[in-house]
Parts: sequence; C-alpha cells; structure tokens
Amino acid sequence: MVYPVYIYGSSVLRKVAEEVTPDFPDLDKFIEDMFETMYDSDGVGLAAPQIGKSVRLFVIDADPFSEDYPEGKGFKRAFINPEIIEASEEKWLFNEGCLSLPGVREDVERPAEITVRYLDAKFEPHTEKLTGIQARVFQHEFDHLNGEVFTDRLSPLRKTLLKNRLDKMAKGNFKASYRCKQVK
Ligand code: NI
Repeated sequence: MVYPVYIYGSSVLRKVAEEVTPDFPDLDKFIEDMFETMYDSDGVGLAAPQIGKSVRLFVIDADPFSEDYPEGKGFKRAFINPEIIEASEEKWLFNEGCLSLPGVREDVERPAEITVRYLDAKFEPHTEKLTGIQARVFQHEFDHLNGEVFTDRLSPLRKTLLKNRLDKMAKGNFKASYRCKQVK
C-alpha cells in the first residue's frame, strides 16, 4: 500500500518520534508499505514520520546511486530504533533533497563516516560502519526521527534565501508528482 507523503508544514515532521516496540502491529507489512511508498515517489530513503507515523523507523535503498557511489549497491535495509554511536571529523558536502520538501535541493555538510546501531525487522541488533552515500542517506533519515529536516542544517544565509519558498510550502503551496498530504 502506498501512503501519502506528509509535506513540510505538517506537525508530525517536527515531532521527536517514539521508539518502536516489539508489539508494533504488523511491522513486516508496515515496512513493506514504506518501501512501496518510497519506490512510488522515486525516493532512496523514507522515515516513518514522513507517512504520518511518529516512530523511530526508516527504510533506505541507495541502489539508484550505485553508478556514481558503488557503496550504494545493495544497500537496502529497514532501520529500527537507530543510533549514531560515532561520527567522523571529516565532513562531506552533498546535494540533498527530501520527499517532504518537493523541489528543494541544497548542499548539506555531514560527517563522511558514521558507526550506527539499529534493530532489523526481526528486532536483531546490528552495528555497522557506514561510508559515503550510505552514511549520507542514513543521517538524512535519522534527522526525520528527531523532528528535523535537511534545510535546518543550512547556513543562516541559505536559510534566509529559502525562507519565502518554505513559508509558501508550509501554507500548502507546493507541487509533487506523488501522493502527498499536509496536516498542520
Ligand atoms: Ni527527507
């Protein structure tokens, strides 16, 4: 099932999401629906708050990047209750976009390498080192679980330049080619 994507201006995108508990109803189906929603909108990552569920879960499939970033090949996972336990000093600038901010793209600086901990769909714990596009998409999605979006990370100047556009979007003035909604 394809869920509508919640657009900037929706209050759920600004909430700190709750941990997923083992009694979460039909988790496998929910994860499947998240992948389906992400593919339907040509995304490479989708966090549960973006479909209106304020829980700490996101899905990633970085395969579309694999031509330019080989580490993206086969990087397809669901991440439950993820944590970033280490981040490199080295930063990397990358042009990001977000399904919740249709049409907006900006260069964002983030650590190049991170070590993460998370549970998989069977609630098995994993610790992994992520680099390049893996680390990039993970950090973008992770922000969504804390009520943040990528434009929060821009310089004060970039934020000022974007302000009008984001204000308009928050008021319902946006276009997207996929199912979406905005709930204040
Ligand atoms: Ni996003």
